[in-house]
Amino acid sequence: MGHFVIVGILVIVMAILTYMGLDLAGVATQMHPVEASLQSLSIDWLWHWQIVAISFLFSLIVVPMAYSMIVFRRRKGDTSDGEHFEGNTTLEIVWTVIPLFAVLVLAYMGSYSLGETRRVDPNAITIKVKAQQFSWTFEYPEYGIVSNELHLPVDQQVVLKMESSDVIHSFWVPEFRVKQDVVPGRVTEYRITPILVGNYKVRCAELCGASHAYMENGVIVDTKSDYDAWITEQQAAALANQTPEGKGQALTVKNGCIGCHSVDGSKMTGPTWFGLAGSTVELADGTTVVADDAYLSESILNSKAKEVAGFSPTVMPPYSLTPEEIANIIAYIKTLK
Ligand code: CUA
Repeated sequence: MGHFVIVGILVIVMAILTYMGLDLAGVATQMHPVEASLQSLSIDWLWHWQIVAISFLFSLIVVPMAYSMIVFRRRKGDTSDGEHFEGNTTLEIVWTVIPLFAVLVLAYMGSYSLGETRRVDPNAITIKVKAQQFSWTFEYPEYGIVSNELHLPVDQQVVLKMESSDVIHSFWVPEFRVKQDVVPGRVTEYRITPILVGNYKVRCAELCGASHAYMENGVIVDTKSDYDAWITEQQAAALANQTPEGKGQALTVKNGCIGCHSVDGSKMTGPTWFGLAGSTVELADGTTVVADDAYLSESILNSKAKEVAGFSPTVMPPYSLTPEEIANIIAYIKTLK
């Protein structure tokens, strides 16, 4: 019995030393990229316990083996055979029940972690992902945006519906941990909840051709307000290619007009555009003017020509607009009512 106690203590000591060694070498945690998603937490939790199990099993095998080799080695002059014995029911039961129990625990831990990574949030945002040799494209169907950068709001689950237009690719952001293949002819789902604002990269993790290694696109986890701002900006850009109003709106974003002119009637440095077109405007000199195209155009070109009552005479920052662009901006202002 003495031997069992000594071996037991040695196994525990060795297991702790092995774990500390692996931790020191960075295998246990430091080698990982940052944990940028909710899903990464349960995966890293599983990883941590795997390292613990590895340390223990390594010691459980190596320590008794080394102990036996040293303590029970053949002594000088000893020519006798080893003791002969047949069967040991107790031992058989022990080494069946313990591994059975261990496997059940592992199954539970694995299922728990899988459940955590797949947990569905009914309020998840859907983003469509298209993989093709050798780049990624992201579409926000809700907003009519297509981008080659994936912007995600922090603390909000997104579900990526991924399709490939050629071969098999694999969507992998190491900081998110979860990896998902993108298979032609099929839509695969990938759920992620970013928890850390930052700039990351999606890499393709499936050899897909000559430029596989360069199949990377930016993944940006934004604060909620930065995300909304990005959406607004992208929407404006998307609209710019369509209607005169859309082009006009994009111009007002691009030229910073909306930094001083509100579009919802709220008070800013400059007069609001909300309900402006066609309205009667009171001027600083006490006269009034109807905000028709001529007035709007004149004011865009020279803000001091007809100063509006109640606003300090600020000169708008310089910009250059073609007559067509001015017409587009006016078309946009007309939509604000
Ligand atoms: Cu796509 Cu490798």
